[in-house]
Amino acid sequence: TSLVTYRKSKVSSSPIPLPCIKSKTSNSSSPEWTFNRTLSNLIRKNILRFLDAERDISILKSTFKPGDVIHYIFDRQSTTNISENLYHLLPTVSPMKNQHYKQCAIVGNSGILLNSSCGREIDSHDFVIRCNLAPVEEYATDVGLRTSLVTMNPSVVQRAFQDLNSEEWVQRFVHRLQSLSGSVLWIPAFMAKGGEERVEWAIRLILLHTVNVRTAFPSLRLLHAVRGYWLTNHVQIKRPTTGLLMYTMATRFCDEIHLYGFWPFAHDPDGKSVKYHYYDTLTYHYTSGASPHTMPLEFRTLSALHRQGALRLHTGPCQ
Ligand code: CTP
Repeated sequence: TSLVTYRKSKVSSSPIPLPCIKSKTSNSSSPEWTFNRTLSNLIRKNILRFLDAERDISILKSTFKPGDVIHYIFDRQSTTNISENLYHLLPTVSPMKNQHYKQCAIVGNSGILLNSSCGREIDSHDFVIRCNLAPVEEYATDVGLRTSLVTMNPSVVQRAFQDLNSEEWVQRFVHRLQSLSGSVLWIPAFMAKGGEERVEWAIRLILLHTVNVRTAFPSLRLLHAVRGYWLTNHVQIKRPTTGLLMYTMATRFCDEIHLYGFWPFAHDPDGKSVKYHYYDTLTYHYTSGASPHTMPLEFRTLSALHRQGALRLHTGPCQ
């Protein structure tokens, strides 16, 4: 596999106390894992110097008005406007205000989840975070059903719902949204230009069908703050993935964080092939260098944190 040794820069040169990232890999499903509360608290404290997920999880109604101009985070020269509909769906207070959970699960979308039987275990957490509206019903045994928060990159509307180009796809999309009843729907609408129409369609359907989700639109500073935290810790990521964003934010409101479905490699430790996503036929495009992400580096960083007990990375089947 691509689990290569990760050599970290000198710890003492960092202004932030760093977890000591060791090079040895371990079986992340091994039962001897114990939670390192001290380290987890230290990480939370350090991340708070860069961002406060309770605040940065969403912009609020009080800070914007319809028509306000927003510069895209990655395409600074391009702008979009806060539409009437989007304004309508902005929260008045943070959807994570005063929320605290003992155990959270963050579910990545790797095919490593297939045949894992982790569904029940995932659902047993106090708070379950999922990424990019990944389907659950058909895969419930392996991925579970509960969702407390789910992300939706605008590109998902195109990739997973055929750009809503027929009544059938609209219905499927609405059905997926309706199944989220009560959970937070986190839409990074202002990252990169190109997704504004898709965001508008989604928002219109949410309003039209009075879908019971709590929408959140990340603050304009979140991404740079998350990247800043990891860069300061000598983790040279290009652009944080949704999964890493979720972990970084979850440290704010979760004690123990368990990650499932994080495996950005084409083969498992036994050499068997692993799908990029558990639910579709996308391939490992990130290896082409065209992807803005550095998933294997992120994975090695998360593995190191697992070994130190700051988080638990589940990569094998569940009991
Ligand atoms: N992931 C992983 N291994 C994979 C696929 C995904 O570790 N083979 C993790 C990544 O952290 C990723 C998250 O699961 O961000 C959600 O997966 P996905 O929806 O595929 O994210 P992408 O669209 O690939 O990337 P992003 O949304 O981060 O731009």
